[in-house]
Amino acid sequence: MAGCIAPVPQVVVVVVFGVLVLFAGMAAAQRVPAPNPAAAAAPAPMPDCNGILLTYNFESRAKIRPYVADRNKQPYSFKANATVLNSGTRPLKSWAMLVTFGYGEILVGVDGAVLTGGGEMPYNTTEDAGNATSFSGYPQTDLLTPIATAGDISQIQASVGIVGTLFAGPGPFVPLPTALSLDDPAYRCPKATNVSSGVLSTCCVLTPEAEANATATAANGTDPTKNFLPRGTGDLVITYDVLQAYPSSYLALVTLDNNAKLGRLDNWRLSWEWRRGEFIYSMKGAYPSEKDTTGCIYGAAGQYYRDLDFSQVLNCDKKPVILDLPLSRYNDTQIGKIDHCCRNGTILPKSMDETQSKSAFQMQVFKMPPDLNRTKLFPPANFKIAGASSLNPDYTCGQPVPVSPTEFPDPSGLDSTTLAIATWQVVCNITTSKGAKPKCCVTFSAYYNDSVIPCNTCACGCKPDRRGPTCSTTAQSMLLPPEALLVPFDNRTQKALAWAELKHYNVPKPMPCGDYCGVSINWHISTDYNKGWSARMTLFNWDNVDLANWFAAIVMDKAYDGFEKAYSFNSTSVGKNTIFMQGLEGLNYLVKQTNMSGSDYLVPGKQQSVLSFTKKLTPGINVVAGDGFPSKVFFNGDECAMPQRIPMSNSGFRTHLSSVLSLVLVLAASAFVLLQQ
Ligand SMILES: *[C@@H]1O[C@H](CO)[C@@H](O)[C@H](O)[C@H]1NC(C)=O
Ligand SMILES: *[C@@H]1O[C@H](CO)[C@@H](O)[C@H](O)[C@H]1NC(C)=O
Ligand SMILES: *[C@@H]1O[C@H](CO)[C@@H](O)[C@H](O)[C@H]1NC(C)=O
Ligand SMILES: *[C@@H]1O[C@H](CO)[C@@H](O)[C@H](O)[C@H]1NC(C)=O
Ligand SMILES: *[C@@H]1O[C@H](CO)[C@@H](O)[C@H](O)[C@H]1NC(C)=O
Ligand SMILES: *[C@@H]1O[C@H](CO)[C@@H](O)[C@H](O)[C@H]1NC(C)=O
Ligand SMILES: *[C@@H]1O[C@H](CO)[C@@H](O)[C@H](O)[C@H]1NC(C)=O
Ligand SMILES: *[C@@H]1O[C@H](CO)[C@@H](O)[C@H](O)[C@H]1NC(C)=O
Ligand SMILES: *[C@@H]1O[C@H](CO)[C@@H](O)[C@H](O)[C@H]1NC(C)=O
Ligand SMILES: *[C@@H]1O[C@H](CO)[C@@H](O)[C@H](O)[C@H]1NC(C)=O
Ligand SMILES: *[C@@H]1O[C@H](CO)[C@@H](O)[C@H](O)[C@H]1NC(C)=O
Ligand SMILES: *[C@@H]1O[C@H](CO)[C@@H](O)[C@H](O)[C@H]1NC(C)=O
Repeated sequence: MAGCIAPVPQVVVVVVFGVLVLFAGMAAAQRVPAPNPAAAAAPAPMPDCNGILLTYNFESRAKIRPYVADRNKQPYSFKANATVLNSGTRPLKSWAMLVTFGYGEILVGVDGAVLTGGGEMPYNTTEDAGNATSFSGYPQTDLLTPIATAGDISQIQASVGIVGTLFAGPGPFVPLPTALSLDDPAYRCPKATNVSSGVLSTCCVLTPEAEANATATAANGTDPTKNFLPRGTGDLVITYDVLQAYPSSYLALVTLDNNAKLGRLDNWRLSWEWRRGEFIYSMKGAYPSEKDTTGCIYGAAGQYYRDLDFSQVLNCDKKPVILDLPLSRYNDTQIGKIDHCCRNGTILPKSMDETQSKSAFQMQVFKMPPDLNRTKLFPPANFKIAGASSLNPDYTCGQPVPVSPTEFPDPSGLDSTTLAIATWQVVCNITTSKGAKPKCCVTFSAYYNDSVIPCNTCACGCKPDRRGPTCSTTAQSMLLPPEALLVPFDNRTQKALAWAELKHYNVPKPMPCGDYCGVSINWHISTDYNKGWSARMTLFNWDNVDLANWFAAIVMDKAYDGFEKAYSFNSTSVGKNTIFMQGLEGLNYLVKQTNMSGSDYLVPGKQQSVLSFTKKLTPGINVVAGDGFPSKVFFNGDECAMPQRIPMSNSGFRTHLSSVLSLVLVLAASAFVLLQQ
């Protein structure tokens, strides 16, 4: 099919094929002891603290198996008790204490607090926390002042019981943490000292700047219902509103709000941990992944609610997993009919579609003693959210923070608002965990060089159990002829070898492994004139799942200001040198890899657009030297692996290869054009 006339670059080919999605499993279950009421007396002799007194009281330890030869690495079980005591003049809102452990502590039980990052027990403080482990108050999130409570210790002090394992030498030496502080920028904590053997303590005081700011927050400080922390922001904010409260149950509205420019979730799965024996009686707008009430019937709930018909109860898991309802249930009066519900778990960036950036559902929650009072309301803890697509980012959520009650407009249209009875907010941020691999990768090519720079070897990780001939996970990926980009990696070997021979390139032995990416993106510089230049971007879906409503973003450091338009994508300049792109209406499907008659290989789903840039606004830009290549590329929120090289322009032969590449792509694609909704 080669050898014909070169096509016009603007020709746009949109072909659609399909993909795969992985399932992000939600966390496994692990029991944590229920919190018990506050401790008795404060551990004592920190004389002079008019701030927040932090104390870590090492209670006991006992040698446990296995016994080891190295006396300094012997495991011990230990018990400790940490307290946070407000001795100041300002309420401490949503306290969080940082403890830097120094003996490889593994936390097995935490009582009276939760790990701020929502970690699971057993919790390796070395691995999971880096240097400091953060504890958040639960259920006692706020500590009032002695003045406002006549020194009532139960309202001004929180006590955290800790049970775990550590690795240390024999006693009588006490393996204390190395540091103690408050995770609150308004306070400064001097280095903690051991006031007596086994007791570490410090007194945190307000910074002068925070002190100067004091009046505003202090005024309403004694009334816990009138003084809230400001609402936080983050990539995804979960709001937990209590709409109706009864002595033994309440109605909650849970709202997920996407604030991240490039954050996205497909078929979201939300989970949390009930810490006070609660269970879900009913739900509208979402449903639990399991309808299982055995936990209630055989547990304390069954004992307490003897007359309740548990066949009507929805879910009794301590850690329920909640899924969104499909679109078709939106009008279902039984389980639908909640604003923003029932969108199959899709959450898109606001810039793409504001109406799809939010999900919501309602649930009726039954409480257990001692919380049987309509004013005793506690949100669940340890929220986790994940998407089912492997391209969705990973989120880490903080603990619920009480915030000012949400205002709801009057449903009947009157000019009044209804306040939620109580509101908590959970802020979840996108995290890139160490060693996490991208899910997509980028290839570079240009009209002035006939070799394509492919994705890096193992750009998206290497399959450890790869069968067949071994390949090198470290060798640099081999340059390819343009048409090889259309062929699955497993079938490229011959083309790569023939190309290497023709071009006198080295062939590594063993040959490099593939990129193992579900999505690859080719960036091709097609033209470069005095006044402007153009590039062509092609998306390939090598997976087995269609990607509906895809989006991509590129960061162009120098060329951003000159961006004019994308011809076949819906593009927007969103600032920070970022160009956001999505499929045009009706063409927003990147279909999965498929069999095609007429092709020897599986054919990836493709979409393509030409992008034009002017040089008027970017004088001095050197497209060929690298300014014409994006520095970062995102697909569906995932940051793609970038090649480490760009095509060279000084190779002797500047051929008409740009035409050849266009031709190959256009012909190959148009052979299977498939307009799909
Ligand atoms: C805890 O994490 C550290 C750092 O990764 C590791 O060296 C240590 O072996 C882990 N401890 C246990 C008991 O797994
Ligand atoms: C954690 O370690 C980093 C780098 O070693 C340091 O900058 C940071 O202050 C430490 N944080 C705490 C709470 O010790
Ligand atoms: C803290 O220690 C005191 C005695 O030292 C004990 O009575 C109390 O139960 C402990 N608190 C927790 C939460 O373990
Ligand atoms: C503090 O701890 C160190 C090391 O465990 C110990 O030598 C010292 O005596 C302790 N100080 C007090 C006041 O107990
Ligand atoms: C002082 O209070 C204002 C408004 O509450 C806040 O924006 C600002 O960050 C505070 N400054 C300090 C130093 O805490
Ligand atoms: C104290 O609370 C009242 C009622 O909520 C509010 O109107 C007032 O502005 C608050 N005062 C300050 C200083 O925040
Ligand atoms: C729900 O009902 C409304 C009004 O009857 C209708 O316009 C809408 O298309 C329906 N939605 C679904 C998902 O069936
Ligand atoms: C909802 O999501 C499931 C799982 O990804 C998918 O199979 C299904 O086609 C989606 N339904 C709609 C209407 O998008
Ligand atoms: C419910 O709590 C309020 C305030 O905490 C208290 O005054 C009231 O007596 C409690 N009611 C019951 C039935 O315990
Ligand atoms: C999330 O990010 C925001 C700002 O980007 C930050 O203020 C907040 O503390 C972060 N929250 C968590 C739980 O990491
Ligand atoms: C392409 O590669 C796959 C996987 O290795 C293999 O099964 C298939 O036969 C190859 N197709 C051709 C035409 O070589
Ligand atoms: C482009 O995207 C915007 C924002 O989502 C949308 O309003 C507009 O209709 C889209 N335009 C086309 C031609 O699809």
